[in-house]
Amino acid sequence: MSKKPFYITTPIYYPSGNPHIGHCYTTVACDSIARYKRMQGYDVMFLTGTDEHGLKIEQKAAEKGITPKAYVDEIVETFKKLWKYMNIDYDRYIRTTDDYHVESVQKIFKELYDRGYIYKGEYSGKYCTPCESFWTDSQLDENGCCPECHRPVAFAKEEAYFMKMSPFADRIEKLLLETDYLRPKTRATELVNNFIKPGLEDLCVSRTTFKWGIPVSFDDKHVVYVWIDALSNYITALGYLNGAYTDFDKFWPADVHMVAKDIMRFHAIIWPAMLMALDIPLPKHLAVHGWITFNGEKMSKSLGNVVDPFVLGERYGCDAIRYHILREMALGADSSFSNEIMINRINSDLANGFGNLVSRTVAMADKYFGGTLPSERETDAVDEDFKSVILGLLPAVDAEMEETKIKQALEEIFKAVDRANKYIDETEPWKLGKDETKKARLAAVLYNLLDSIRVISALLSPFMPTVMPKVWEQIGASAEDVEYGKLGTFGVLPENVTVHKGEILFPRIDVEKEIEELNSLIQKNMDEAKSNLSSEEKGETAEPIELAPEISIDDFAKVELRVAKVTECEKVKKSSKLLCLQLDDGMGGRQVVSGIAKYYKPEDLIGRKIQFVANLKPCKLCGVDSNGMICAADTADGPKVIFVDDSIPVGTKIR
Ligand code: MSP
Repeated sequence: MSKKPFYITTPIYYPSGNPHIGHCYTTVACDSIARYKRMQGYDVMFLTGTDEHGLKIEQKAAEKGITPKAYVDEIVETFKKLWKYMNIDYDRYIRTTDDYHVESVQKIFKELYDRGYIYKGEYSGKYCTPCESFWTDSQLDENGCCPECHRPVAFAKEEAYFMKMSPFADRIEKLLLETDYLRPKTRATELVNNFIKPGLEDLCVSRTTFKWGIPVSFDDKHVVYVWIDALSNYITALGYLNGAYTDFDKFWPADVHMVAKDIMRFHAIIWPAMLMALDIPLPKHLAVHGWITFNGEKMSKSLGNVVDPFVLGERYGCDAIRYHILREMALGADSSFSNEIMINRINSDLANGFGNLVSRTVAMADKYFGGTLPSERETDAVDEDFKSVILGLLPAVDAEMEETKIKQALEEIFKAVDRANKYIDETEPWKLGKDETKKARLAAVLYNLLDSIRVISALLSPFMPTVMPKVWEQIGASAEDVEYGKLGTFGVLPENVTVHKGEILFPRIDVEKEIEELNSLIQKNMDEAKSNLSSEEKGETAEPIELAPEISIDDFAKVELRVAKVTECEKVKKSSKLLCLQLDDGMGGRQVVSGIAKYYKPEDLIGRKIQFVANLKPCKLCGVDSNGMICAADTADGPKVIFVDDSIPVGTKIR
């Protein structure tokens, strides 16, 4: 019988800098799902790759004095090295500079044009020169400036091709609200209200101001702009409109596209629209996860807060890192990275929980029976509950994995680990070992433990593929014993199984010492990362600072800056950029709206003291009253709120 196909994809990454632990999450998650599906007997296609065109790459290459292709070639090697290091078993790697992809994208663009969905027009609007981006009025920040860099924008025009989006609005709304496409589904309403209800805007799909892109085949002044090039990778990699591969019919539609929240909109709206326009069936699921944050901010190279996965992997092994990020991140939510949480998690779950279960069991089988269990058995009522927990594990993990809930699947497995450790406490095998008349009972207990480890380790193997084969070696399990078809059965290991004492699977880490070392290493890394950035990326302005005209002290006195404490904070409905904050300002309280929603979550601000302009004329932003303005530093990575020392009372004037 031929195997059922299963197709899963990561986003294709921008090779504009070296990958960090934030990039690892999606890839490790997809790899675990792919491995789980392979274990279940599916014919899996797991695709990842790199998105190599665009202005940023063109600029970075020019800075280095090399061609864009030479620039990306080097970084793509680091990505591939990392995936090898993290034991990522992808089936195909696409580079958008691959000839077959270029050929398909040109044909897709032409097809959309011929079908009347792409037309030539003029992009006019507010243009930010440093970011080379057009913005609509509704996208500008609260000061009418660029929402990315917060610098002033100017009106500009440029010839461009556009893709019509409105013909697909109704079908996309249904897709989001009435099907299981988007996971978690809770985000569907936000997408519909923010983008579809106000009227889907046509999408700019070509540019003439840079060259590093795929030329439009019938108008080579233009290059294909970002999303048609990038999103098409999911089908061109299967051979859609090219001769490089022939498995489009087998693997399409994709079972799961996994992405982080910042690119959800493109995958939830633009990608379905493109497929509808091409008459191609839609993917089955879009799984959206949050960001790995560091000190409350998205981990990103330009913030200098990147955590190097090579450094962590070297210290704890790639499985521990894989486990940590998978166990911390729930679909949809952000997950904050901290050395403490990581080390405590490795110690509690892997060293004490699972590792200890394996080493204790194997050591006892070795000590009391010379490694090989005898045939005599004596069962006890206490065995039944334990066995039923192990028998229930496979369906529980299957159910979570079916819904791409990796964190929950791991929680189920670790409940079984806890149950097995509890079984050791209940049966006290070290006491049985001292009593010659209890050998048959001891053999039964150790067999049950070994067989539970067989099931647990097999189910853990898609998530921690490097260590589990070592466990199988230690508990004497053969490759057949850990096959998926045998995980719903108890008593699979041979009656006279032989164990082999081996290395400690997850050594316990000395928390204090390790954190100290790690912090200094990561600090070094950050310093290095920062020193490698251009001054603009560091948040410094590349151009000489031009001061505004001089003012007198009286002019300055007109601006009343004061200290306040944020007591409540929530997102402004209908806006992806605005937060509405309630301030304790020492004057009875006030409400202020601030355009920092992309950079701060309400919980990052609640309870913190900030500096604000207290005598600014009230205004309405997105229909919400705002009485004042929160002060923030205008960095290249967006606004950084000026937090004030907690000891300063609210209402205090700042001069
Ligand atoms: N090239 C586009 C994707 C095109 S897909 C057709 C892109 N590339 S990216 O390299 O900037 O980001 C790739 C993915 O990594 C995105 O889903 C992004 O959100 C994710 N992450 C980057 N930093 C991250 C964290 N700190 N945490 C979790 N995911 C992060 O966008």
